[in-house]
Amino acid sequence: MSAALEARRLWVKRGGGSGEQSKAVLKNVNLRVQRGHLHMLLGKNGSGKSTFMETIAGLLPISSGELSVAVQPCRVVSQNPDHSIILPTVWSEVAFGLWDQDLEPAVVEEKVLKALRQVNLEGMSASSIGTLSGGQKQRLALAGALVESPKLLLLDEITSFLDVENQFGVLRTVKDLIQGDPEGELSALWVTHRSEELQYASSASLMDKGEIVGVAADQSEVGDLVRQFEQVCRLQGDVW
Ligand SMILES: Nc1ncnc2c1ncn2[C@@H]1O[C@H](COP(=O)(O)OP(=O)(O)OP(=O)(O)O)[C@@H](O)[C@H]1O
Ligand SMILES: [Mg+2]
Repeated sequence: MSAALEARRLWVKRGGGSGEQSKAVLKNVNLRVQRGHLHMLLGKNGSGKSTFMETIAGLLPISSGELSVAVQPCRVVSQNPDHSIILPTVWSEVAFGLWDQDLEPAVVEEKVLKALRQVNLEGMSASSIGTLSGGQKQRLALAGALVESPKLLLLDEITSFLDVENQFGVLRTVKDLIQGDPEGELSALWVTHRSEELQYASSASLMDKGEIVGVAADQSEVGDLVRQFEQVCRLQGDVW
């Protein structure tokens, strides 16, 4: 199966402002996300997960190595929907993603309704943002990405502020989108430090201190990867 995304011997540095030394945050990262996979990147706080996402999104320069993103477009959804939602209603927020595409109003309508349906927000297009729950806001942020028909979703801890019910609701939605994609091309890189989410992964990898230290090629290998993560946390003195 061909890769949606592949990093080879990737090094990325951060910092270096105001005379400070920049430091390597990603160190020799090798990672392959297959097309049609929900690949989960697991790692503790500060391990470099968001740095990897930002690099894939083209926001950070590569120091050395290679990064190829074979499927386009790719869209990012981040942790806190309050930071990404900018317009006053559900409808305008999703339609905003299409503003530069010069589409007929009927096509915009169709695409916005489809994206809202995909995240189970149909019937809420007239709602103002202030009336939405945290889970609904995160679904809306997801719809804002989906309306642009991405082939790769970069999802950075998008369940962080959700209760358990919404956490698994959003997870199920993403899994269903990937499994239901008619071309089997939609892929997602799901960043998390919540190991219970890995039960939904098609494949996964473990990042520690900027390095990929473990890989699960499929769901049958995920249990071992989660145990490796727990061991990393224990060795680094985290309460588990
Ligand atoms: N803007 C920045 N400038 C300098 N260093 C940074 C910057 N952002 C992050 N770092 C450093 O890079 C390292 C990795 O941070 P990153 O945010 O990628 O980790 P993370 O795995 O996403 O953590 P979290 O789970 O807390 O979101 C940390 O040591 C952090 O201090
Ligand atoms: Mg992060």
